[in-house]
Amino acid sequence: MSRLRVNAFTVSADGFGAGPDQSLAQPLGRGGEALHGWFVPTRTFQRDVQRKDGGTTGVDNDFAERSFENLGAWIMGRNMFGPVRGPWPDDEWKGWWGANPPYHVPVFVLTHHARPPLPMQGGTVFHFVTEGIEAALDQARAAAHGKDVRIGGGASTIRQYLQAGLIDELHLAISPVLLGRGEPLFEGIDLTALGYRVQARVLTDAAMHLVLVR
Ligand SMILES: NC(=O)c1ccc[n+]([C@@H]2O[C@H](COP(=O)([O-])OP(=O)(O)OC[C@H]3O[C@@H](n4cnc5c(N)ncnc54)[C@H](OP(=O)(O)O)[C@@H]3O)[C@@H](O)[C@H]2O)c1
Repeated sequence: MSRLRVNAFTVSADGFGAGPDQSLAQPLGRGGEALHGWFVPTRTFQRDVQRKDGGTTGVDNDFAERSFENLGAWIMGRNMFGPVRGPWPDDEWKGWWGANPPYHVPVFVLTHHARPPLPMQGGTVFHFVTEGIEAALDQARAAAHGKDVRIGGGASTIRQYLQAGLIDELHLAISPVLLGRGEPLFEGIDLTALGYRVQARVLTDAAMHLVLVR
């Protein structure tokens, strides 16, 4: 059974998934880079995202590794894909991740601005979906061939799938940093009314990992 998962989504201690004022220089918004203090040092991030040797093993890496397992497709919001807003001026922007992004499966990008599919090296194809979250999920499930679909983020995208009652599992890494402002994950979301409970929690030096299920 294909599940819809959120994994390794990092939230500040005051509930933000990114800082304010995202830009080319600050993909995670102002101060947002500090969120990923648990993730960046891991062997998984170093190997799969940075293409480097080394990195830490242990609980943080276990969560990072698990986040990439059994995935047949991804969904993300247009702001996670990049800093370009409004109609696409051209097809130059191809994501933050270089020629060979760390997805290696189809990725469905929610946007109000249509754009042709964008095939990348290594199997990643970015598809731009303008028909809303259900359409993106239908397309992702079809592309995933029975494997799970992961929502990468950001906060706005996750909130919509939570409100629609579509997310089966949510792994959050609560980072011990305060952002003050930014993209709030929980705004308008009543996780109890939506039926979620905390299934697992693990504390490390860098994060509190929570796994929420229904
Ligand atoms: N903390 C983490 O682990 C983590 C993970 C991933 C990303 N991030 C960060 O989160 C930030 C982005 O989050 P965000 O909440 O600002 O935005 P987001 O969810 O990435 O994207 C929101 C945008 O996607 C499009 N969109 C969303 N829902 C749509 C729908 N139903 N129909 C059509 N288009 C839709 C809209 O763009 P248009 O109207 O412009 O097309 C909307 O403005 C970035 O800074 C990113 O780096 C953090």
